[in-house]
Amino acid sequence: MNKVRWGVLSTAKIAVKDVIPAMQQGTNSKVVAIASRDPEKAEKVADKLGIEKAYGSYEKLLESNEVDAVYNPLPNHLHVNWSIKALQAGKHVLCEKPIALSHVEAQQLLFEARKYPGLKIMEAFMYRHHPRWKKVRELIRSGAIGELKTVRSFFSYFNDDPDNIRNKPEMGGGSLMDIGCYCISVPRFLFEDEPTRVIGSMEIDPELKIERLTSAILSFPSGSATFTSATQLTRHQSVSVFGTEGKIEIPMPFNPTSEIPTVLHLENNTGEEEISFEPCNQYTLQGDHFSKAIIDDSNVPTGLEDAVANMKVIDALNESNNEGGWVSC
Ligand SMILES: NC(=O)c1ccc[n+]([C@@H]2O[C@H](COP(=O)([O-])OP(=O)(O)OC[C@H]3O[C@@H](n4cnc5c(N)ncnc54)[C@H](OP(=O)(O)O)[C@@H]3O)[C@@H](O)[C@H]2O)c1
Repeated sequence: MNKVRWGVLSTAKIAVKDVIPAMQQGTNSKVVAIASRDPEKAEKVADKLGIEKAYGSYEKLLESNEVDAVYNPLPNHLHVNWSIKALQAGKHVLCEKPIALSHVEAQQLLFEARKYPGLKIMEAFMYRHHPRWKKVRELIRSGAIGELKTVRSFFSYFNDDPDNIRNKPEMGGGSLMDIGCYCISVPRFLFEDEPTRVIGSMEIDPELKIERLTSAILSFPSGSATFTSATQLTRHQSVSVFGTEGKIEIPMPFNPTSEIPTVLHLENNTGEEEISFEPCNQYTLQGDHFSKAIIDDSNVPTGLEDAVANMKVIDALNESNNEGGWVSC
């Protein structure tokens, strides 16, 4: 197999605008099919993006023998259901974040996925495929900032559109599910460990009934992480990483533009340094890394266990807010 043949479940904005065009630039991926609940919509997007096949239902796409792997960018409440259906149809699955609505649901997916050891499955935390994040982890491992002690993250935007999937509680809306999940994923990635206990404070939109502001502390065995995520706040994203002997700042940490170089700032006892990275598209890299794992039958970069662990922290934060105190993970 030279290239993995991809099918896309739905005409989701993230798929049409970012992920499909990026994967079409990849060396290991070919997008061959797209499905929508509305056949006309599927045709229209297929024409626009030069995709060979358009299906009027997700089921039809899963029946196709010409699709090896499925990208699942459905609303959050459909992630587990359709990822399981895709596995049952013999397809590898790249599923959007957050992997599930709850830790229990994520575990159900893991349980199902283990029945198909020949199929790969991964949560689409695209940021992890950017060389900049690999460098941050490398710097920490090499002791460039001494001992890692705390990670501070912030991710926000303003969107109170009641029709948006992010503002519907039954679809797994809210800031923690949409973007706070990155602020949990990042310190877990950098500490290479899991938090032992968490505490969170949330604000719920009285009309939309979704959580629109979360601030949290995650306690790790060797340090801590703090973050704020919000969906009705001015747009901002940043991550700062502090060690006993230095710090790393990552501007536009989660979705930097692919058109221009990205940087990170390192400051330690030996001075200050700006480290620059060639322009690259993290969605292209994500697709290629996943496809390569299929082609080589090797491990995916991030196993499903990681997605389940991230979901566990989200659940613990919800519990903390409800109970009003620290919750063990
Ligand atoms: N990794 C990233 O950078 C990133 C960025 C944005 C979003 N995401 C994730 O990607 C997913 C989709 O986000 P999005 O903003 O692209 O969503 P969106 O534009 O609202 O698209 C969701 C799609 O799901 C399909 N769908 C099936 N059942 C539906 C229902 N009951 N209600 C609404 N849509 C339904 C629709 O496609 P059809 O009508 O064609 O069937 C719809 O276009 C979310 O899980 C989100 O967290 C990830």
